[in-house]
Amino acid sequence: MKLYNTRIKGTGMYIPKNRVTNIDLEKTIETSDEWIFERTGIRARHIASTEGGEWPSDMAYHATLQALEAAKLAPNDIDMILFASVTPDFKLPNTATVLQTKLGMTNQCASLDIAAACSGFVYGLNMADGLIRTGVMKNILIVGSEMLSREVNWTDRSICILFGDGCGVAIVGRAEEDEDSAILGACLTADGTGKEFFDQPIGGAVHPIEPHHIAEGSHFMQMKGKEMFKVATRTLAQNARTVIEQAGLTLDDVNWLVPHQANVRIIETTGKLLGIPPEKVIINIDKYGNTSAATIPIAFHEAVIDGRIKRGDLVLFDAFGAGLTAGATLFRY
Ligand SMILES: CC(C)(COP(=O)(O)OP(=O)(O)OC[C@H]1O[C@@H](n2cnc3c(N)ncnc32)[C@H](O)[C@@H]1OP(=O)(O)O)[C@@H](O)C(=O)NCCC(=O)NCCS
Repeated sequence: MKLYNTRIKGTGMYIPKNRVTNIDLEKTIETSDEWIFERTGIRARHIASTEGGEWPSDMAYHATLQALEAAKLAPNDIDMILFASVTPDFKLPNTATVLQTKLGMTNQCASLDIAAACSGFVYGLNMADGLIRTGVMKNILIVGSEMLSREVNWTDRSICILFGDGCGVAIVGRAEEDEDSAILGACLTADGTGKEFFDQPIGGAVHPIEPHHIAEGSHFMQMKGKEMFKVATRTLAQNARTVIEQAGLTLDDVNWLVPHQANVRIIETTGKLLGIPPEKVIINIDKYGNTSAATIPIAFHEAVIDGRIKRGDLVLFDAFGAGLTAGATLFRY
């Protein structure tokens, strides 16, 4: 069987217009800009409009148009849409199909949502690599798009300060013979025993939302921040080492670490554990907070656009999230 290398052909992002700073939050909850910035590295987040035009599928639509242009592809060149989100537009149909329609696609391409929380984009990328590598598909669109502002209790200061809305996408396809892009290592993990560290049990088949849940606010996301913090640093470091080993490389070879943006202290601790210097780590949590599945594709896109990440660089994506899911990808861009 002929095998192909996978190349990220184009990327894009969309950030909602409404910017909410820590100082804005000081007006509605008992908190301060200093506390939030010191503990998390966050200064602001963006909140999608509830009037329409910035639903997860809309943000993905705008980001995908940029990625298609960068990849020099048309919507119907996409063979599959993988839409990673914990805040899909609807329960049914999936948001990948909503996006397919918004893009005006007529090729009836495979369209699938991925529910792997903050690791969803990396899950999508690693699965797409398998399909591209084996020649099953030529071009796959991977989306991380989130409207977490809908699922956050805005009166709970321990959680609402952390999250934001936004979208990042990447189109992957076959590398040409003269291009040295490739995915060199991939690792996907999950540990269901940590499910109570970050969950949202109300609203599914087991506990449909009832009026008393809304009165109590128990239908929102719940998180044990300290537990998540510990597991995150351990898992991020472990998975990074796994993919480096798979590729037969060393951490010194890595040009850029693009980690999930949940807390700058998690990122810094992971960098230290791995011995990767801060100047090789992409951080933008100060601007957007934690946008779940969207953090890595947004951070990557920004670094590509501003020229930090260049073709030929060795890049490491490293994600973790509720589940507890986690995933890493090492690739030559
Ligand atoms: C959430 C997080 C920022 C909290 O930081 P922390 O240093 O653990 O803070 P604590 O929860 O111990 O809270 C310390 C104090 O600050 C208070 N506090 C909590 N939120 C606050 C806020 N927004 N503003 C001001 N004070 C706050 C607490 O009530 C507590 O007060 P107390 O000591 O009087 O009880 C941190 O644990 C974290 O980022 N965890 C990981 C989150 C994560 O990765 N999520 C998963 C994403 S995929």
